[in-house]
This record gives sequence, structure tokens and C-alpha cells, in this order.
Amino acid sequence: MTTSSQSVRDALLDRAVQAQLHAYAPYSGFHVGAAILADNGEISAGCNVENVAYPLGQCAEATAIGNMVTGGGNSIKHIVIASPNDDFCYPCGGCRQKIKEFAGPDTVVELLNQKGKTRTVSVEELLPFAFTL
Ligand code: THU
Repeated sequence: MTTSSQSVRDALLDRAVQAQLHAYAPYSGFHVGAAILADNGEISAGCNVENVAYPLGQCAEATAIGNMVTGGGNSIKHIVIASPNDDFCYPCGGCRQKIKEFAGPDTVVELLNQKGKTRTVSVEELLPFAFTL
């Protein structure tokens, strides 16, 4: 894994927390933020967006990935996922597959808890034996 420069990493952490502030999570009360550094150097952020029809809710990672693609990004260099509590918010199974879709061999997945503690994991650790065509 190649870690982004310190200033870019700081920006990613900040953007993930900023996005978290906009989470629309009236049903779970669980506010998540994500920020992605893409191959084009752009940072895209996203929050979870729930719906009264529960299965229609979207995770923060999915929102951030959609924004990355919309902004012309093709792959994820580094993604930060901000948790609302002291535990890390590990991406759900579906989001692991969504991250994998845009991952490269050096993609960094960084988890941030409410206290500012971080943990870095690889996509391979999150989703071993991933399905590919
Ligand atoms: N959630 C995320 O946004 N990302 C994750 O990785 C796990 C879960 C959201 C979905 C839902 O809005 C809320 O957290 C509770 O599951």
C-alpha cells in the first residue's frame, strides 16, 4: 500500500468528517462519511442517505464512489471511512465489492473513529477471493 502525502491524507480525513455531518440517517441514527482520493487527484466525498423504504438506503462509500465517477475518477487511491462512534466502521459486504470494482493493487482503505484513531487495511484483507469475471 502506498500512503498518500500527509497533506492529502489530512484533507481526506477532514472531508470524510465533513461529509458525515450531512448524513441523512433518520432511521438508524448512524452517521457515516467517506472521502476518496481518485487517480485523477480529485477528492470526492459522500455520506449515507437513508430512505423510509429501508433497502433503498445508500451507504456513504457508495455515495462517494458515485461522486468520484461523476467527477471523472477511474480508480480509488485512498478511501477514508468515518465512523460515528469509537468503533471503526468497516464497510458492509456490498460496499467491499463496490470498493473492489474501483480498486488498484495499492488502494488504501483507512478507517477513522470518532476519537480520531485510524486503522489502515487493504482491499485484499477486506474482500479476499473477490469475485471477478
Ligand atoms: N453504513 C454506511 O454508510 N457505511 C457502512 O460501511 C456501513 C453502514 C450506513 C448504512 C445505514 O444508513 C447505516 O449506516 C446503518 O447501517
